[in-house]
Amino acid sequence: MIQVERLTKYYGTNVGVKNLSFRVETGEILGFLGPNGAGKTTTMKMLTCYLPPTAGTAKIFGHDIIEESMAVRRRTGYLPERNPLYGDMSVRGYLEFAADLKGVPASRRRAEVDRSIERCGLEAVPRRTISKLSKGYQQRVGIAQAILNDPELLILDEPTLGLDPKQIIEIRRLIQSLGGDKTVILSSHILPEVSQVCNRVIIINRGELVAVDTPDNLRARLMKSSRLRVKVRDGAASGRAAALVGGIDGVLLAREESAGDGVRSLEVECASDRDVRDEIARTLVTAGVPLLELRAEELSLEDIFLQLVTEEVS
Ligand SMILES: Nc1ncnc2c1ncn2[C@@H]1O[C@H](COP(=O)(O)OP(=O)(O)OP(=O)(O)O)[C@@H](O)[C@H]1O
Ligand SMILES: [Mg+2]
Repeated sequence: MIQVERLTKYYGTNVGVKNLSFRVETGEILGFLGPNGAGKTTTMKMLTCYLPPTAGTAKIFGHDIIEESMAVRRRTGYLPERNPLYGDMSVRGYLEFAADLKGVPASRRRAEVDRSIERCGLEAVPRRTISKLSKGYQQRVGIAQAILNDPELLILDEPTLGLDPKQIIEIRRLIQSLGGDKTVILSSHILPEVSQVCNRVIIINRGELVAVDTPDNLRARLMKSSRLRVKVRDGAASGRAAALVGGIDGVLLAREESAGDGVRSLEVECASDRDVRDEIARTLVTAGVPLLELRAEELSLEDIFLQLVTEEVS
């Protein structure tokens, strides 16, 4: 388990992160989400002992990041932001070099490099020069480096940044395949990605924690109201559609959003504990308004993120 207690980093008078506390269970894939400058990289550098905290602590499987940094480093694999590789080395040459740095004994080095090459799907390219590989393959090399010496914790700073959609899917699959067996903390700007890959999400903004929860709970917690989209065919009675729907018990707000091509579109906010769809349908049909469509709109993680971050700023 990873326990982070009031972790704080100041760069001079600049806040990197402030009073961050959270836990990560063993085997969990945790997503670290936040806009530019939120403090994702700063937190990851402290958890990997690259940067000393100004205040606060963290324990990685019981080992303190300050007092027992060697034990922490041995248990942690790290893919730094922008994946710094040695471009003129071969894949295998670089991984052997990284294995040496990580203290993998010479007798196990070959087997360990083979294992991480296989795990990351690099079997076809071990002799290729890194700079000549595609960005997606370079990212695999970075992850292969991170899993050398079989660490229990993987910390991946924006592992899919700058990749094309196909490469993103491949790297995402690779990360998912590593989870369960390992504890993974990854940072990302891409919200759907985090909701797909991670069991839990931490949202930080300006160095402070804004929310920690599962993607589903975050969505539910913030859905104070739910939104429906209603389309009706234009006709004699249709101008009253918004007023009719607005008068239904449980509807907070109904407004006509657009009209044209013989169709009027309404946006309807409802109390989230009420399902008023059948009532809306009945009311409209009874009033002679031809109903074309009635659809629930789901709040995306983007909406939630913006709500949280905006609340925090204002
Ligand atoms: N070496 C440094 N010196 C001074 N300030 C820094 C340094 N590194 C980071 N900061 C500041 O700390 C804050 C957090 O930065 P950090 O790089 O951790 O954010 P981030 O969430 O990783 O952002 P990004 O999404 O852009 O990678 C920012 O305000 C940044 O300007
Ligand atoms: Mg960063």
